[in-house]
Amino acid sequence: MTEPARVPENSPVLFVGAGPGDPELITLKGARALAEAQVVIWAGSLIHPDVLGHCDASAEIHDSAGLDLGAIVSLMAEGYRAGRRVVRLHTGDPAIYGAIGEQMDELDGLGIPYAVIPGVSSFAASAAALRVELTAPEISQTVILTRRAGRTPVPEGQDLVSLASHRATICLFLSVGQIEEVVRDLAEHYPLKTPVAVVANASWPEERIVRGELRDIAEKVQAADISRTAMIVVGDVLHPVETRSKLYDASFAHGYRKADA
Ligand SMILES: C[S@@+](CC[C@H](N)C(=O)[O-])C[C@H]1O[C@@H](n2cnc3c(N)ncnc32)[C@H](O)[C@@H]1O
Repeated sequence: MTEPARVPENSPVLFVGAGPGDPELITLKGARALAEAQVVIWAGSLIHPDVLGHCDASAEIHDSAGLDLGAIVSLMAEGYRAGRRVVRLHTGDPAIYGAIGEQMDELDGLGIPYAVIPGVSSFAASAAALRVELTAPEISQTVILTRRAGRTPVPEGQDLVSLASHRATICLFLSVGQIEEVVRDLAEHYPLKTPVAVVANASWPEERIVRGELRDIAEKVQAADISRTAMIVVGDVLHPVETRSKLYDASFAHGYRKADA
């Protein structure tokens, strides 16, 4: 008697972080998932198209920009059930404002397995563009990743004025279109001389940086005509001189090194 042919298990749907734009800022694992994918559903309004250069020419590519949740999940489900390798490509890291929660809930409901490959978030790419340490010793040991309430509200206690009271480093997503309101909220707790930087399209060839202080950043951003795909970074860590870490100072001892006499 011959053994029945082994049915290969279908590959789980993969949520992949595309990174901030530069196609070299995707993980090796993410690039391999794209190279092997037969169906790719990508967020075309946010991801730099060059990232699709990692895909095989035969891959079926769908832009999710014009699709609703049902249509996106149907594409994933059809691909999975047909035994095809499906990648759902998200900008930056999928766990940050990626709306993956609702997609995963739908896949759970359909009994379709999935996995997540993380990506370089745009807040990290913006810090790199600014060449800043977001957690500079003695200045800020906390980074708040948030957005200002707009059409999408934020839960109670997480409004920008409340978060500003910590005077930590803040990276604001999805908020540059409300730069005047952002400044107004932050000014409740941060001095007007607090440095602020706005990075538009971090890591893209068309990346732009606008630096200022709380008192003049709105004007500068408007003059630069930046209204989308930008990160607002706020805090004293942006002061170049004061960000120097004491960790490598010869007079500073820690667990692995004695201080110089
Ligand atoms: C829907 S959220 C997605 C965030 C993404 N998951 C991440 O980890 O970066 C889109 C927002 O992320 C920020 N963003 C995404 N890519 C960016 C980039 N290359 N440069 C600056 N900000 C970016 C902007 O604030 C934009 O409005």
